[in-house]
Amino acid sequence: MAIIIKTPEEIEKMRVACRLGAEVLDYIAPYVKVGVTTAELDRLCLDYMTQVQGTISACLNYAPPGYAPYPAAICTSINHQICHGIPNDRPLKDGDIVNIDVTIITKDGFHGDTSRMYLPGTPSIQAKRLCAITFECMWLGIQVVKPGGHLGDIGAVIQKHAEKNGFSVVREFCGHGVGRAFHEDPQVLHYGRAGTGPEFAPGMIFTIEPMINAGKAAIRQMPDGWTITTKDRSLSAQWEHTVLVTETGVEVLTLSADCPPAPTGIGV
Ligand code: MF3
Ligand code: CO
Ligand code: CO
Repeated sequence: MAIIIKTPEEIEKMRVACRLGAEVLDYIAPYVKVGVTTAELDRLCLDYMTQVQGTISACLNYAPPGYAPYPAAICTSINHQICHGIPNDRPLKDGDIVNIDVTIITKDGFHGDTSRMYLPGTPSIQAKRLCAITFECMWLGIQVVKPGGHLGDIGAVIQKHAEKNGFSVVREFCGHGVGRAFHEDPQVLHYGRAGTGPEFAPGMIFTIEPMINAGKAAIRQMPDGWTITTKDRSLSAQWEHTVLVTETGVEVLTLSADCPPAPTGIGV
């Protein structure tokens, strides 16, 4: 499979899809409180997509080869869960950290994929630090995207920043091209060497979604077939934006009114 270069018309439709994805994350923020269940958050997001936005969830019934259909509208990954956590009836507890990952499909058939960390209650200093460093990792990755650079530049800066802070990068899951399909080429690794991999070209659209563990990088898959956790049960965090390579650099497509701004003073 080759990397799809989006036309100006497709790019405009992806701008819409990505903004709508981000707006679901804005919408759900005030509900992410100690005591709420992730099943309730799932129901709220699904209602918002279908009844307010006129979008559908790309996750619900998503069934890549070897997987049973995903049974919910969003992914909710708590504490040592890395990604693809299935919403359930357990209330969030004080100190939990939770990633909510939303992918919507517009009426035009385009996907908007983005995720954020939510910290209801009072998280530990370590948990806050992990979420902050992971957010910085995502933005460092975004900031190296420009024509002439290489995909490996993203993984290199992310791995360096995570490991410098004593954390580790999940290897088994990566960012991905996105458009009419949920997961397209290329794979966007969150580790690796600068100057390697395909060259960035204007019109490419892909996600950057580092999963960073407080302990070791090793993962485990739960018997539900979807939920991925850290093997050592250490905390894990993830942030995700979808970006467009422009003539001069990068445009982040999954911005919205309430999404946290790029951090300042991290440098690359
Ligand atoms: N949104 C995830 C990603 O960033 C994929 C979730 S697939 C699901 O690629 F089936 F678990 F929802
Ligand atoms: Co993604
Ligand atoms: Co996602």
